[in-house]
Amino acid sequence: MRAAITATGHYLPPDVYPNAYFERQLDTTDAWIRSRTGIAERRFASAGGTSDLIVPAARRCLDARGISPAAVDCIIVATMTPDRLCPSTAAVVQRKLGAIHAWGFDLAAACSGFVYGLIVATKLIESGAARRVLLSGADRMSSVVNPEDRATAVLFGDGAGTVLIEPVEDESVGILDYVCHMNGEGESSLYIPAGGSVEPASAASVGEKRHYVVQDGPAVYKAAVIGMAEVTEEILKRNDMTAADLAWLVPHQANRRIIEAVAKRLGLGLDRVIINLDRYGNTVAATIPIALSEWNERGRFAHGDRVVLSAFGAGFTAGSVFLRWATV
Ligand code: UT7
Repeated sequence: MRAAITATGHYLPPDVYPNAYFERQLDTTDAWIRSRTGIAERRFASAGGTSDLIVPAARRCLDARGISPAAVDCIIVATMTPDRLCPSTAAVVQRKLGAIHAWGFDLAAACSGFVYGLIVATKLIESGAARRVLLSGADRMSSVVNPEDRATAVLFGDGAGTVLIEPVEDESVGILDYVCHMNGEGESSLYIPAGGSVEPASAASVGEKRHYVVQDGPAVYKAAVIGMAEVTEEILKRNDMTAADLAWLVPHQANRRIIEAVAKRLGLGLDRVIINLDRYGNTVAATIPIALSEWNERGRFAHGDRVVLSAFGAGFTAGSVFLRWATV
């Protein structure tokens, strides 16, 4: 049995923060942000949790497929900004959506979370354990980014993308293969020091702002170019393809220069690479499903299109999925 993405939806909060906003707040410039990252603006939610980003994205996805939340049997939420450490955001989404027959869980793999989640969802479908999996990649990064730290504040945004994964009869389309890597040596390059079990939240941890994301940008940059290129090259090779066979590469959207470097290494023209980080910044687990949903809603995917999704993020984690688009 083959699993395929049969519907998509996304949600971005309405409040837009252009680079000029940070020019007023921090020692930075629009020119620096654009030239070093490719980002022009991002969205921040004014209230609510990650579940409040997911629910409208999920409704849009289910409406596109014409099914009710009660028809979903599993909910997976890939996020590094859960509503709370307990219970899972998947449980909150289940209640808010009214997906009364669904079980589910959160998956923590930062920027690679959606790709990892897609693999888990595929295996649930292929094994017959689930018939309709609702997978969201979503992050409210504004809840964990220090607004006074110019090295991170300008990079991230809030958003959610959701896909529905179902079995399809046609074996020639759907989710065909994957490659995943992880290197825990990356922990100190991108992490949140406090608020977990190692350093529980305290007045001191909050006072020292240790509940915010810390990133060694240049170290992550170097690892991301190599890591994302490696998983993408590996998945192409395993499937006897070259970049020329791809209709679309959907890379994680952290930095336009990372995407360009990966495309160059693959010999892939940017006209076949989906890029939207200029408008949304790095929405972490949400970047790939938002891109998929935008392209799908614009009718840019044709049945059978060869598509590779590639991600790299904290951990370090990296992953690629090869699929052939299924129009159902
Ligand atoms: O999605 C998860 C994975 N995350 C990523 O993939 C992010 C990877 N890293 C990056 O995207 C890039 O490293 C950054 C965009 C964060 C930085 O770009 P860079 O080319 O690596 O940095 P750079 O070497 O051009 O510049 C570093 C300098 C530092 O100043 P000094 O020490 O050279 O004087 C920073 O203090 O840029 C400074 N800087 C800024 N300057 C103006 C850092 N942030 C800013 C800023 N505005 N917002």
